[in-house]
Amino acid sequence: MRAAVLTEFGAPLTVREMPDPEAGGGEVAVEVLAACVLPYAAEVFGGERNYPLVPPVVPGLGGVGRVVRVGPDATRLRVGDLVWCDPTVRSRDDALTPDISLQGWSSRGAGGARLAQYLHDGSFAELMRIPTESAFPLPAAAGDDPARWASLGVHAVPYGGLLAGGFAAGETLLVSGATGNFGSSAVAVALAMGAGRVVAPGRNRDVLDLLAVRFGPRVCPVVLTGDEATDRAAMSAAADGPIDMVIDLLPPAAPSSVARAAAMTVREYGRVVLMGGIGMLGGDDLALPYPWIMRNSVTVRGQWMCPRSANVGLIRLIASRALDLGIERVRTFRLDAVNDAVEYAAAHGGPFDRTVLTPAAG
Ligand SMILES: NC(=O)c1ccc[n+]([C@@H]2O[C@H](COP(=O)([O-])OP(=O)(O)OC[C@H]3O[C@@H](n4cnc5c(N)ncnc54)[C@H](OP(=O)(O)O)[C@@H]3O)[C@@H](O)[C@H]2O)c1
Repeated sequence: MRAAVLTEFGAPLTVREMPDPEAGGGEVAVEVLAACVLPYAAEVFGGERNYPLVPPVVPGLGGVGRVVRVGPDATRLRVGDLVWCDPTVRSRDDALTPDISLQGWSSRGAGGARLAQYLHDGSFAELMRIPTESAFPLPAAAGDDPARWASLGVHAVPYGGLLAGGFAAGETLLVSGATGNFGSSAVAVALAMGAGRVVAPGRNRDVLDLLAVRFGPRVCPVVLTGDEATDRAAMSAAADGPIDMVIDLLPPAAPSSVARAAAMTVREYGRVVLMGGIGMLGGDDLALPYPWIMRNSVTVRGQWMCPRSANVGLIRLIASRALDLGIERVRTFRLDAVNDAVEYAAAHGGPFDRTVLTPAAG
C-alpha cells in the first residue's frame, strides 16, 4: 500500500510504499476512503504542538473506510462494510481508567505511548489496521460522499463534551471559541441536539455574522473586546436568561482570561466543560475562583474526545439530517498531494471548511 509518512518533525510528509497492515484477532483492516486534515496538522507535523507522535509514523486522525479484512472475533462486521474509524483507542486491561491513544495522532502518558507503539499508524494511507471496536457501521448514503462524512471526526469532539455536560434539548449553551473549527462544530451539534439558544462569542464579526445567518435566531453572537469583565457581561446579556452550560474549545494561543470570562457566565448549578488547548503550551492557568464554584454549586469538568457510544449517536444525528453536513465546504486531495492538503487546511480553518484526504482514490 501507499502511505504518507512523517519521517521527522519539521519535514514534509513523504508518500511511499509500505507493507499492507495485517489485521490480527480483535482488529479489522480498512481501505481508507476519506480522512480529515485538521487545520493545525501543520503545527503538529512541524513539532510546534509537542505532540507525542514518534516518527516515522503514518499520521491521520480517523476516517471513513471500507472493511477489507476482519478478525475471527468480529461477530457483525463484514468485509465490504462502510465504517467510521474512530481514532480513540483505549487499552483493554483496565476497565476504570484505560490508557488512551489517538491512533496516528497523539496519546496520554506512558500507557498511551505504549498503546501508540502498537497501533502506531493513522489514516493517511490506503489501508489502516484498527481495533474491531473502533469500526462503526455507516449508512449506505455515506458511500455517496465519504469525504463529507469524514467530518465526523470534528463533530465527535464537541458532541463528546456536550454529552459529558449532560446537555439537554431546550437548554442555553455558551460556546467559548464559537468561531473556531471545533467551536463552530459545537454550535452546529448543540443546535442539532435541540439547544434552545447558543451564545456564540468571538472577535471576528464576519464569522459571527456567518454563524447567525446560517443558524438563525437560536444563535446569539457576541463581539468580544478582550476586557474580561466587559465580555462576561456582554455574553450574559446576549443569553437573555440563564446559561445552563458552557463548553470551552479555545486553542493554546488564547489567554486563559477569555476562557474564564466565558466559564463564569454559567448559572448557579450550571456545568462548565473544558475541551480546548488552554495551558497546553504554557501561559497562565485558568484560575476559576474557589468561592464562585462553591457558592454557585458549579460543576467544572474536562473531556478528552468522546466515549465509544457517542460515535453511534453522532452517526444517527447526521443520518437523520438533524446535523446537516450539506452546509460544509469540502475540498478533497489525493494522497500524493498530502502536503498541499496540510497547507490548504491551515489556511482554511474557519467554520465548516473541511480539508479531506482521499487515499483510496490514488
Ligand atoms: N478535548 C478534545 O478532545 C479535543 C479534541 C481536538 C481538539 N481539541 C482542542 O480544541 C482546541 C481548538 O481547536 P480549533 O482547531 O477549533 O482552534 P481554532 O479554530 O484555532 O480556534 C479559534 C477560536 O479561538 C478563538 N481565539 C483564538 N485566540 C483568541 C484570543 N486571543 N482571544 C479570544 N479568542 C481567541 C478564535 O476567536 P476569533 O474568531 O475571535 O479569532 C476562535 O473562536 C485546540 O486547542 C485543540 O487542542 C480538543
